[in-house]
Amino acid sequence: MSKLELQGVSFKYPRGKRMIFQNVSETFDSGKLTTVEGESGAGKSTLLTLLSGLALPTKGTLLMDGEPIRDLTLYRRNVAATVAQANHLFEGRTVLENVIYPLLLKGADPARAKEKALELLSEVRLDPELASHFPAECSGGEQKRVAFARAMALQNPVILADEPTANLDKGTSRVIADILVDLAHEKGKLVIAVTHDLLLPELADARLYLRGGVLEHE
Ligand SMILES: Nc1ncnc2c1ncn2[C@@H]1O[C@H](COP(=O)(O)OP(=O)(O)OP(=O)(O)O)[C@@H](O)[C@H]1O
Ligand SMILES: [Mg+2]
Repeated sequence: MSKLELQGVSFKYPRGKRMIFQNVSETFDSGKLTTVEGESGAGKSTLLTLLSGLALPTKGTLLMDGEPIRDLTLYRRNVAATVAQANHLFEGRTVLENVIYPLLLKGADPARAKEKALELLSEVRLDPELASHFPAECSGGEQKRVAFARAMALQNPVILADEPTANLDKGTSRVIADILVDLAHEKGKLVIAVTHDLLLPELADARLYLRGGVLEHE
């Protein structure tokens, strides 16, 4: 069992006027899907930015298994994998190359990396014919699946997703929701998804609501 912890975290953007969070403490567990809801501008994406290791809290600490995170580069490489709302796929690379990249980064040999990437694309149920296509040649839902396969390729214990079902139809949202649930329940990952969707929180093990700079349990 691993856990990710926010301990007395406050955050203000360098150019921001207000504190987005005030003294937030929360624990997230492996094997669970946690959803974070809240109004637009409440700070949900900012929360994921901190949990992703893209910024340090203004005050307070982020801990993994009781250890304070000090090296954000190592944290991003070995602990947290993020699926951004806009996916941020490498546009000049094929779908397969996008998923191979983190595997090579982690030292897999090229043949094994290709095999593993194809496995991951099949896990997210992407049409195998799309492996040689570029992201721009894929639909929004297909791109989201590629983004998940790429995040999974890092083989990190924490998976974070910012509005993973935004702009997707009901059926495609369900496919993405099933991937998130599977990552938590079958693969034992610690999964946190920010969402406006009604479906994801219904499937979540823990439901949080961000309001007035504070995380509340639903
Ligand atoms: N780089 C930045 N510098 C200063 N302020 C910022 C920055 N990024 C976001 N903010 C502000 O922080 C607040 C929280 O933004 P955030 O994107 O986290 O909200 P959100 O809950 O994800 O909203 P949405 O549901 O619309 O995505 C907003 O008031 C926003 O204007
Ligand atoms: Mg947001």
